[in-house]
Amino acid sequence: MSVLAALGGAPVRNRPFPRWPEIGPTDEAALLRALHGAYWGLHGRGEIERFEARFAEYQQARHAVAVASGTVALRIALLAAGIRAGDEVLVPPYTFLATASAVAEANATPVFVDIDPDTFNLCPRAAAAAVTPRTRALIPVHIGGLPAEMDELLALARRHNLVVIEDAAHAHGAEYRGRRVGALGHLGCFSFQSSKNLTSGEGGAVVTDDPALAARVRSIHNCGRVPDGAWYEHHTISGNYRITEFQAALLNSQFDKLEEQTRRRERNALRLYERLRQVPGIRPQARPTYPHRHGNHLFLFRYDAAEFGAPREVFLRALEAEGIPASPGYPLPLYRQPLFANGDFGPYSAAFDRHPDLSYAAVHCPNCEEICGGAGAWLYQNVLLGTPEDTDDIARAFEKLHAHRRELRELAARPPSREAAA
Ligand SMILES: Cc1ncc(COP(=O)(O)O)c(C=O)c1O
Repeated sequence: MSVLAALGGAPVRNRPFPRWPEIGPTDEAALLRALHGAYWGLHGRGEIERFEARFAEYQQARHAVAVASGTVALRIALLAAGIRAGDEVLVPPYTFLATASAVAEANATPVFVDIDPDTFNLCPRAAAAAVTPRTRALIPVHIGGLPAEMDELLALARRHNLVVIEDAAHAHGAEYRGRRVGALGHLGCFSFQSSKNLTSGEGGAVVTDDPALAARVRSIHNCGRVPDGAWYEHHTISGNYRITEFQAALLNSQFDKLEEQTRRRERNALRLYERLRQVPGIRPQARPTYPHRHGNHLFLFRYDAAEFGAPREVFLRALEAEGIPASPGYPLPLYRQPLFANGDFGPYSAAFDRHPDLSYAAVHCPNCEEICGGAGAWLYQNVLLGTPEDTDDIARAFEKLHAHRRELRELAARPPSREAAA
């Protein structure tokens, strides 16, 4: 008789994990508060300002500006930093599109730098090797919520006078050597999109300690307006990148839960990390020995197909059948996405105009390619929001798949359509 649920056995878990976002009466009250407020948009003394002040304090930054999305946060940060045509910006290829597309949208050149195979984060040595006289900035992503190697990256930036923009879309509440991420570099960008650890459906924020940068960000997100200027007075190339009072009201009510959720996820993630480390063929994202707190937006791990005798997709299918949802993660290094492979930057073509020989087809980041191609995967943050016993179910499913890897090989040999009938 088969034991694996994908082959007809009993699954490890039948119950769903906690849904995301966690909502309650305070969220309903917040939306009603915004509904009955005098203004539904930015007006100076509302939900938006209250949230900005609270979020800045939480991330240990002097300033925060709430914006329409994480994508827009990166765009504004690059504009505020003065990045322009001809400039090169170092980015990792293992991230969401926006980290690199925002650079192209600044009419600058994204330069892809490989990641560390164990942390999945930008490799400082590879970044140092990629610096040229045209390099102006770097965007480390705190991938999954694990802070990037900021000491080394900040030292590199100081040596070459580079702007550091942290992509902290996954890293609300994460700490690097005792300090929250976001304002470790010059600017930090957060996302409040639906899946993120703090969400209002859509939204984002830019944080910084630098008052001049903060003023530029604030102006760019609000049509180039300035504090003492008239409503129809516009100073910089900019846009309407504001959020609404409804989004900010939800952010305020959700924010009240963020710290407890962050601690709950970290407690469960550490428990899972200790168990999964023992499973041959599974290597959770490496954690540094220095003081840190993981944001736990994703629980990343490396998967060894040779140990299990089955490709990653078969393993994940079997895991899902055991009641544990998981993802293969980013399918391609960003430079292999059609946008970069075809070099179609539309009107933002300075990168190619100035360097006709620029070709993303020639880029090769072996660690990222290996992870995208089958050696990496992740669990979603909501599976870490349960009890310690819920977390043990995840570990038991991994252990079960390893113990029954002969069945997994059998599964790998079958066409997917025959699994249900097995
Ligand atoms: C690493 C990273 N950066 C930036 C973004 C962009 O955020 P948003 O979806 O809010 O535009 C995301 C969102 O998925 C992300 O994962």
